[in-house]
Amino acid sequence: MPSHDVLIIGAGLAGQRAALAAAEQGATVAILSKVHPVRSHSNAAAGGINAALNPEDSWESHAYDTVKGSDYLGDQDAIEIMCREAPGEVIWLEHRGVTFHRDETGHLGTRAFGGASQARTYYVADITGQALLHVLYEQLMRFHAQIDRYEEWFVTSLVTDDDGRVTGALAHDVRDRRMEAFAAKATILASGGAGQAFKPTTNALICTGDGIAQAYRVGAPLMDMEMIQYHPTTLVENGFLITEGARGEGAQMFNSEGERFMERYAPNKLELASRDVVSRAEQTEIDEGRGIRGGLALDITLVPKKRILEALREIVNIGRDFAGVDITQEPIIIRPGQHYIMGGVKTDVNGLTPVEGLYAAGEVACVSVHGGNRLGANSLLDTLVFGRRAGEDAAGRAGSMPLPDSASHARVREEERWLDSLVARDPGGGRRVSEIKDELGRTMNEHCAVFRDQAGLQRAYEVVKRLQEEEKSAYVDDRGTVFNQDLLGAIELGYMLDCAEAIVVAALERKESRGAQFRTDLPDRNDDEWLKHITVSHNGAEPDVAYAPVTITHWQPEERRY
Ligand code: FUM
Repeated sequence: MPSHDVLIIGAGLAGQRAALAAAEQGATVAILSKVHPVRSHSNAAAGGINAALNPEDSWESHAYDTVKGSDYLGDQDAIEIMCREAPGEVIWLEHRGVTFHRDETGHLGTRAFGGASQARTYYVADITGQALLHVLYEQLMRFHAQIDRYEEWFVTSLVTDDDGRVTGALAHDVRDRRMEAFAAKATILASGGAGQAFKPTTNALICTGDGIAQAYRVGAPLMDMEMIQYHPTTLVENGFLITEGARGEGAQMFNSEGERFMERYAPNKLELASRDVVSRAEQTEIDEGRGIRGGLALDITLVPKKRILEALREIVNIGRDFAGVDITQEPIIIRPGQHYIMGGVKTDVNGLTPVEGLYAAGEVACVSVHGGNRLGANSLLDTLVFGRRAGEDAAGRAGSMPLPDSASHARVREEERWLDSLVARDPGGGRRVSEIKDELGRTMNEHCAVFRDQAGLQRAYEVVKRLQEEEKSAYVDDRGTVFNQDLLGAIELGYMLDCAEAIVVAALERKESRGAQFRTDLPDRNDDEWLKHITVSHNGAEPDVAYAPVTITHWQPEERRY
């Protein structure tokens, strides 16, 4: 049975960065991913990575923008670490071969991004995440003697010992359904977010909240789960992402009356206000009848064509292939769409969760550097800074402890029998997995979106509870053992339902509006009562809700103006 100092689940940017950092400390590492690493969802962070590298900029300014963007729910000690370490991380990437854009003087060039007081987003056209993933994957090869890669392996459970300490995971090879027990001194979850619990979403099909649910099931608290980001520019037809880089390059938005409506909502920052603000403005325009085919016009033709073809070439393809629009010639219709989950598994600034032996980094985690609303281009940064810190810390701890026992043979057999029973379910005995997933996604998008209220959230809660019951008898069509995506979908459905439950419970609990949670029945921010994190923990049938303080260091809460 495979044994390593550090087991990393998920091979996007957080996972790969953690693997490299742990290996550099001398640890043996297994990195395990349900898809090939360069197909991870980090690909989707198109527009860039933030860092205060320019001499006129400062980590303090980056941190203040991040705190304000978070609507003061972000923990300022963690934000300070992220912003202080950002320049070093970008330079590290550049030295390893990321071909960041350079300006006409040959220096690294930036573009503007939402909520930022300076243009501090470093980028590779509009494929930044993809460029970073490929370079990090090359770097993994350098450590082939220390880092074992398990590509297309699917984790079904974390393993705990009698004291509740995480000692590894059970996973099966997607190629043939062979189950293995992985033992590790430290396990790092880096398996991304849960966007597929919403429909539509910008998120890849693989973003099913696996790590969030796996941690929840072994007792780790989830934090800030109510904070779901709707990205302002997703295709009205299907929710595909049109990068914020377009607005950073000068694109503007218009309603059906030809009005540049952001002048009314954010007169200073306009289209580059923070995402929660822009998405609410758009939804208001649509709801009040000034929409265009259910969305609004994003006019990218205002950006010079040469610049579009150089810096926004991926959305040229997306516009043409998925909306039939040539964005160099005409506006494209967009609307707010589910994009990111600010919450996740509660961790400290080294990625350690309250469950011994378990770390989390990247979108699966909540440090919390994003609080109520994440700034665009802070997600790549989060994955790299906290992926590295988690890898280093895990390797450090692993050095001083013995290897735990692997899961018993009986435990492995029990897991195999569970998978067999999922595949063998009677089609007459319940609903198809994909139908339940569809209803979940539509429900979350209806009631847990840009605007929410008590009645809608209560309705979502009831639907999630019913779907959890239906999931117990849901069936799959594919009964094979080779690349059975249907079976993976059945397990992922359980993960998504756990995440949805925590999201709705936290949204019901927070009786105010802050960041991405805007309650039409409670429209004001209420710092006196709600300047605190909400945590949700698994505890039998009903989740436990508790609170955690927000760390405030330099920046006292004030009204947000853009
Ligand atoms: O719009 C974008 O390029 C997305 C970036 C992000 O979410 O950080």
